[in-house]
Amino acid sequence: MDMGRERLTRGLLLRFGILLTAVCVCVHVYLETGRRGAPAPLALGRPIQSSPNWGQQSRTKQVSAEQQDRSIKRRISYVRTIKKNSSARKRDEDSEDPSPPCCPHPHPRRKTPRWHIDLEPWASETHSLEDEAKRFLNYITTPQVSCASLASEEAAQEETKGAWVACLDPKYSLTHRIQSKHCRVYSFGLGVDDRSLELSLTRAGCEVHCFDPSLKQPHLQQAEMWLHRLSVDWRDPNPAIVAQRQYANTKKLATILNDFGHRQVDVLKADMESAEWKILENLVLEGVLDSVGQLLLELHLHWAGFEVGGDDPSVVRYWFSLLKELEHANFRLFHVHSDPAKPRLFLHKNVLNASSAYTLSWVNTKWKP
Ligand SMILES: *[C@@H]1O[C@H](CO)[C@@H](O)[C@H](O)[C@H]1NC(C)=O
Repeated sequence: MDMGRERLTRGLLLRFGILLTAVCVCVHVYLETGRRGAPAPLALGRPIQSSPNWGQQSRTKQVSAEQQDRSIKRRISYVRTIKKNSSARKRDEDSEDPSPPCCPHPHPRRKTPRWHIDLEPWASETHSLEDEAKRFLNYITTPQVSCASLASEEAAQEETKGAWVACLDPKYSLTHRIQSKHCRVYSFGLGVDDRSLELSLTRAGCEVHCFDPSLKQPHLQQAEMWLHRLSVDWRDPNPAIVAQRQYANTKKLATILNDFGHRQVDVLKADMESAEWKILENLVLEGVLDSVGQLLLELHLHWAGFEVGGDDPSVVRYWFSLLKELEHANFRLFHVHSDPAKPRLFLHKNVLNASSAYTLSWVNTKWKP
């Protein structure tokens, strides 16, 4: 009797066990198939997109391919938002930012990256160098807004130079940023440099960072200015080379800003000895100009510049288009200076008696730091 009951109980338990296993397998399969359509759960940020409807696969292939494409784009932009948000959180400062640290910025300042700048139409139908040069030279020598109060004016009188100037007119933010002790200056230059503007802005209370790749130390403070063993480039260096050298001495501006935890620069000064065109292109394409209040650049015209190709009229058209991109980003030229002692060389020759170098200053008229 006992033996028989035991066998019966064991048989029931075995059957129950098999049934339970089968139920578990079914539930598992159901969950797996259900999950495949929905986006992977993400721990960061807030969910911003509804999941794409993968059930409607009975439509034409084209439509579903389009949907898929769009949903991939959505996910990419979602990942970007998260990345941007987490890197924004790393930044030290900017109490002015109204959005709480947890949520993506409602109006991201950095636009999505672009792949090329917009070329302006040719200056004339003949595509002649003379016409391109005339339009370009006229553009860089015609200020678009006036500035009554130029920083570094005293220094200009002392040294009769006055190439590098910032605008302190109260209609632009720099003077207010100086008063509220938020002013920050970046200065990039290779070789011997006129630092009178940096000194005068340091004295005014700005946090001034000078970048000099030839320094022996990575960072040091001198005459109340920061010096960094770095320079700006239009691309980040190859990681393999960085590993070899132990450090990178050139970086993109966006990378420098990110590494330093700086969200904005009130004055960006750069004399990059013909690398300015590709650097400017990088700033346009990555939307970094939105972080800059005033831009002071030395333009070099005696040759096309690093990695700028094409025949002479195309080069000048490209230069012109880059400066028009600045205008599209709400930058307005307020000062131009050319040293009369510089050679009259424009793409290796004398064109309209143009100088080989011009120092230009723009103000970002829509800048709200
Ligand atoms: C060319 O420019 C220089 C410097 O501004 C000036 O001194 C010179 O007279 C100019 N030459 C001509 C031919 O216009």
